[in-house]
Amino acid sequence: MTGERNDLESPEPRGHDAAHSLFRPPGEPVREIPPHLYGRWKHDPLLRVANVFFSTVIPTFSHLMRPRQLAEPDRSRELRVIKREIVAHDKDVVALTLAPADDQPLLRWTPGAHLDLLLPSGRMREYSLCGDPADQETYRIAVRRIPTGGGGSVEVHETLHVGSTVSIKGPRNGMPLAVPGYGSPAKRIRFVAGGIGITPILPMMIAAERLGLDWSMVYSGRSLDAIPFIPEVERFGDKVEVRTDDVHGIPSGADLIGATPEPTALYTCGPIPMLETLRKGLIGRTDVELHYERFSAPPVTDGRPFTVTLDKSGETVSVAADRTMLAAILKVKPDAPYSCKQGFCGTCRVHVAEGAVDHRDNTLTPFERQHGQMLTCVSRAAGDHLTIDL
Ligand code: FES
Repeated sequence: MTGERNDLESPEPRGHDAAHSLFRPPGEPVREIPPHLYGRWKHDPLLRVANVFFSTVIPTFSHLMRPRQLAEPDRSRELRVIKREIVAHDKDVVALTLAPADDQPLLRWTPGAHLDLLLPSGRMREYSLCGDPADQETYRIAVRRIPTGGGGSVEVHETLHVGSTVSIKGPRNGMPLAVPGYGSPAKRIRFVAGGIGITPILPMMIAAERLGLDWSMVYSGRSLDAIPFIPEVERFGDKVEVRTDDVHGIPSGADLIGATPEPTALYTCGPIPMLETLRKGLIGRTDVELHYERFSAPPVTDGRPFTVTLDKSGETVSVAADRTMLAAILKVKPDAPYSCKQGFCGTCRVHVAEGAVDHRDNTLTPFERQHGQMLTCVSRAAGDHLTIDL
């Protein structure tokens, strides 16, 4: 009955309550229902039924009917670290389990998805979700500490502890798993992970196993000490081969691709040399479809050297033919924003004040390009020089 009382005791009666208030002393709350919907004095039985319904059923279920704000991948939200585990023997990989810091549910995700972490320093970094996609209560990411990197991984290791909160965007999926027979002509799946590249692959293995798919996996790395999640990978038994460079040598394309008795979808994530070995091994192979995610910038091809001037500081840097413009900028401005280094997140976007651009991304719209936007991680100068607003 709480809902009814609150409504009728409102100091600003409306509609029929307002009319009824003419027959009661000012300030006295309305405690009776109006007798008839159309203002007659005779009691309307339908109105009585409606009043009983609205005063009992709706308050009883109102907590279920309250609209909940839906989370959106493009909106940032706060998550709390509820678990922190070291998941590699060398102690350089930490897995963080994140739960909502508010009462909003987490967005569902599919294997291959990642989160954007908005770190306290202002850096944004992308990390693949590496937990169980069926878990609707938490997300899990894993981060390898790279002391010589851009500072994001070190910041995660040093500042995110159990109880810390962190802003995220996403999840988003840039490498979705297509189930053989449903959107993929393949009959089986081969997973190839290198080092921390295991993170997007782990949920795929869980999903493949759960769906009863025909799959196998090779997991490579420098040494057993350096590769994370060994116990989680080994529980899949002989479907998984763990091979390390110090024991087995650098794997060949054939080692990575494995036996392919039937059309195969190959999903991989790892360092560039491993991806390059795979790419070469798959030349001419029409029976294997390749899905990959790299965790570092793609090599620059067909680059020409040029110079770029940072408008705000007036500094001019040289960009070598085989280096990215972002790498050159970071040398003089280490806090320049970036995340994916692959031309799809848009974090490194700058405005070009002068010079023509050789756009090499698939992210910016023609409108954005016409208005002087460019992505420094992949795009370059079309001529000898650019001036950018940075
Ligand atoms: S860093 Fe992501 S688009 Fe450049």
